[in-house]
Parts: sequence; C-alpha cells; structure tokens
Amino acid sequence: GKAKGLLDPNRVVNIAHRGASGYAPEHTMLAYDMSHKKFKADYIEIDLQMTKDGQLIAMHDETVDRTTNGTGAVKDKTLAQIKRLDAGSWFNETYPAYANAKYKGLKVPTLNEIFDRYGKQANYYIETKSPEVYPGMEKKLLDTLRRHGLSSNRIKPGQVMIQSFSRDSLLKVKQLDPKLPLVQLLEAPQMTDVTNQELKTIKSYAVGVGPSFKSLTRQNTKQIRNAGLLLHPYTVNEKVDMQRMLDYGVTGVFTNFADRFNEVLKHT
Ligand code: G3P
Ligand code: CA
Repeated sequence: GKAKGLLDPNRVVNIAHRGASGYAPEHTMLAYDMSHKKFKADYIEIDLQMTKDGQLIAMHDETVDRTTNGTGAVKDKTLAQIKRLDAGSWFNETYPAYANAKYKGLKVPTLNEIFDRYGKQANYYIETKSPEVYPGMEKKLLDTLRRHGLSSNRIKPGQVMIQSFSRDSLLKVKQLDPKLPLVQLLEAPQMTDVTNQELKTIKSYAVGVGPSFKSLTRQNTKQIRNAGLLLHPYTVNEKVDMQRMLDYGVTGVFTNFADRFNEVLKHT
C-alpha cells in the first residue's frame, strides 16, 4: 500500500529534538547529520533565534552561554560574532561519556546553511523561539523557506512543520503561508488545565499540539485525539516513557534519542 503521509493521524513520527542531541552537541550539523542519515528520524527539530543583524540561527537559548564558549544574548551579536564561537566543546565537558574530539570547534548553523545541506531530502520541524524578542522573525523564516523552495505549495504536506509556544507567532506564520501546518506547544500547566473549548480554538489554526510528555494521561490524550489534533509530546528520552506514550495514542514524539524511539517502534 501507499506510505502514510507525515500528517496522517495513523502515522507515528520520530522527531529528532535538536538533532541527535543525546549523542552530539545540540543544533550542530553533526547532530543533524546523525539523526537524519544514521537514525533516519522523520524530522530535524530546529529552534530559531535571530542575530543582531537579522540572521536566523539554530539555537535553543536566548543566550549563547550554555551551548557555546561565549556569553551574552543572541540579539546583541552579529552573525560574524556568533560564527566565532565553539558550539561543541561544552558537550564534551558536560557529557564525557559521549565526548568526541570532532565536536570541538563546531559552529552554530544558520537556517540557510541547514536548508543548503539537506534541501528537500529532510523534513523540518521549526520552532519560533522568543518571537516577542525578535520582531519580524516569522517573515524572515517564510522568506528563507521560499528561497529554498520549501514554501507549502512546493513540498509534500508536513515536510515543514512550524511550532511555537506563542499563538501570536503561529498566527503570523499562518497569515504569511496559510497552508503550512502549525503545532501549538503547551507547557505542562497549560496542558493540565486544557478544556475542549481551548482545543477547538487551537484546531482552528493548528494541526496539532506539542505538550510536555509529563502532562499527558490516557484521558487527556484521548481528549486531544478526539479533537482531531495530532499529538507530539516533548521530550521523551526513556524507552518506558516512549512505550507509554504510544500506548496512550500519541502521533509522534520529540526525542534526543531517535534511535531508541525507532527500536521501540520496531517492537510494537
Ligand atoms: O519544541 C518542542 C520542545 O522542544 C519544546 O521545548 O524548550 O526543548 O524547545 P524546548
Ligand atoms: Ca523546541
């Protein structure tokens, strides 16, 4: 039969959270390569921040402190300054069991460079981070997608997903490219208190929700699926939790260990 599409509610997708970030420094090309080529995860997950000179880069935090050898806010640095930083050595120090000499000196990638590298061979699950700090980031994102032939009318459905904790940011993306599928991220307390009315509101602009996996129960999983939403909890790293999420009925997970999730999927 025909392979299930990425947005098919009966398909379970494996989303490599910050790349293969359990094994390699998050949001580096090596971490993306590992998840894409070695683990064959369905998606590369990318967090976006924006530099002082308006360049979109892949980084989780608003500051470079945790994941590079520098300090300070991304918004106060030019791309040239960001490019001088070492985005890999911290990993070797923090995770000696997974340390590797080749991680030393890795660079922070731009969104452009990521699209240059994987083009249409990969699927992208992109988060607008701190959009209130970066006015215009949604427009930049959509322009970048278009320049790489990744606008919604040029790709397969679900090849690019846009996620955010910010509803405003998702609505801006929707205005710019109404057909790009959106995912509303939810913090644990938001998920715990969620009402059917709220899910209905989310369904009016998004195809799915991404809650903390710790806030999911069999009951609210059912509630979300009954609302017609895809359900991609973050960040599920242990096999027992992966299995439990599958038992509840999620349609994918964000994981730092895409290889583990593949193994769990193989045995179900
Ligand atoms: O995007 C899903 C998950 O990554 C959200 O949390 O903080 O890891 O970006 P965070
Ligand atoms: Ca994220």
